[in-house]
Amino acid sequence: MHGKEEITNQENNGLMKNITVIGAGTMGNGIAHVMAQKGFKVNLIDAQTTALDKALATIAKNLDRQIAKGFCTEAEKMNTIQNIHCFNEINLGVKEADLVIEAATENSAIKKIIFTAADQYAPAACILASNTSSISIAELAAATQRPGKVIGMHFMNPVPVMKLVEIINGIATDTEVTETIVALTKVLDKIPCVVKDSPGFIANRILMPMINEAIYALSEGVSEAATIDQIMKLGMAHPMGPLQLADYIGLDVCKNILSIMQEGFNDVKYAPCPLLVTMVEAGKLGIKTGEGFYKY
Ligand code: CAA
Repeated sequence: MHGKEEITNQENNGLMKNITVIGAGTMGNGIAHVMAQKGFKVNLIDAQTTALDKALATIAKNLDRQIAKGFCTEAEKMNTIQNIHCFNEINLGVKEADLVIEAATENSAIKKIIFTAADQYAPAACILASNTSSISIAELAAATQRPGKVIGMHFMNPVPVMKLVEIINGIATDTEVTETIVALTKVLDKIPCVVKDSPGFIANRILMPMINEAIYALSEGVSEAATIDQIMKLGMAHPMGPLQLADYIGLDVCKNILSIMQEGFNDVKYAPCPLLVTMVEAGKLGIKTGEGFYKY
């Protein structure tokens, strides 16, 4: 980052210094990247060492993209990577954290286990945030002894590029916690949008029915995938068509979010399209498996 945009730990207005990110997948490594780039000390935790190695390689590759575009220098890349420390165990990685951001797989049982462990080992003042795309913040908060310090911090993929952070207030979230997370989001050069805890929040409540409808249109043979996507790109100025975006997000993730909204609202209008269900059952999950609505 150049000149006045550079923010070091000292310049973060004492907001916080130590951030722990749990889960080194696509979202976790993106969050670690932007935090470390802004001068925070980041502990990145994943049970799998291979996932941590892959995350560091991805962060280095994405920093190189930023260097190629002139948004980042070699020195900043080195500082960013030096700000990231990897751990396999939650108890070791959270003990000095001011903020923990959970970015594990979108499964409420797994997330609750992580929240209970983070609550047990993190300092009492530490805020516990989830990058969940649809799971209730109240449910995650109930797995801890500090529900007032639990909040949703929903980043968008690719994290280094997307400006939005959807901030979700749980029923018990303290006002000061929301204010701190809003301020932190601005320090990251991102734009906070605060919403209430409701299935799918806002982003996925609107995005996923659009993707589901595109899958229905495909399954009914109204048009082929490339044409459906072209219509939404050219007609609505979306950077990606809905089927291409579904492949990018992961079809399993899309199906899970729709199911959570169907259950949460008790409304079949959110039920995943049968073609989506079949594709997930067949292991065609999009880019990550080499095939979804397109082949990669
Ligand atoms: N890290 C850093 N930079 C990256 C990057 C990454 N992972 N991926 C792309 N970029 C940068 C590129 O360097 C490029 O920079 P410039 O604009 O300065 O040239 C820019 O992003 C655009 O990249 P590309 O030229 O390679 O490709 P593109 O123009 O096709 O854009 C895209 C790629 C940014 C992903 C764009 O297609 C897009 O915005 N797609 C929609 C993404 C979206 O909707 N995300 C939300 C998904 S939903 C979600 O995340 C939440 C959920 O709960 C499901």
